[in-house]
Amino acid sequence: MDSVIDFLKAEQARGNSHVYLDEEARVGLRELYVRSRKPVAMPVEEAAPVAPVTAEAVISGDSKAAKLDGLRQQAERWVPAVSLGSLREKMVFATGNPDADIMLVGEAPGYNEEKEGEPFVGPAGQKLNDILKAMGVKREGVYISNLVKFRPAMPKQTTNNRKPTPEEMAACLPLVMAEISVVQPKIIIALGGTTAEGLLGLEGTISSMRGKWHDLSGIPARVTYHPSYLLQSSGSNQVKRSLWEDMLAAMEKLGMPISEKQKSYFLPKP
Ligand code: URA
Repeated sequence: MDSVIDFLKAEQARGNSHVYLDEEARVGLRELYVRSRKPVAMPVEEAAPVAPVTAEAVISGDSKAAKLDGLRQQAERWVPAVSLGSLREKMVFATGNPDADIMLVGEAPGYNEEKEGEPFVGPAGQKLNDILKAMGVKREGVYISNLVKFRPAMPKQTTNNRKPTPEEMAACLPLVMAEISVVQPKIIIALGGTTAEGLLGLEGTISSMRGKWHDLSGIPARVTYHPSYLLQSSGSNQVKRSLWEDMLAAMEKLGMPISEKQKSYFLPKP
């Protein structure tokens, strides 16, 4: 920070009142600013509660793709998340169509997603692909993101994953909100109760959150079961039907054609 100030003073002394900042410099300066606001450690007796490090995502660029790329670059070094020290290093951003009508949001990348650098590519991703196929939608046609952009860390971690904490979700929330404001999807689908808590601030059981429309910055948002829930033994036909009814509601909202066959998926056999 001192060298930046020295540089600016030298420019001023030379009679320059403006300096041009490219995107990288803006991100770097923002990081310095956020870091400079981080509370300094105090003696234990006087310790004040440590305020969470917050930051705003900067949206700039000519096209949606350029804006999302700018957000991806900021996410790589997202100080509020990195400073928690509870997330792994590799950043996993989003995938899909920046002009999508449907945006799906999951919790956080897991082992497979970290390895591939793309959300929902493991077994839960396969389930999600099946769901999209049943809707008659291509994976490349929707926008798929995660609330938390780094895999939550665990001691001696191998392929095991954990859910993100409320702090981890709060740290990354500005990024996904910025993605939403760039993509401007017609609907948002929050996958799982943890995502719904972090993204929509909902509390309670998933059954109390799903089956209705919520509002997220003026965009209709639906909560449904996380696709990984379908992989567990508890992923009964009833759960599959409930998830499918959320998808039917999404299709109806978008004015998509729905066949009689689609309407009947996972209904109990007469
Ligand atoms: N679960 C999630 O919530 N997101 C992923 O990307 C993968 C699994």
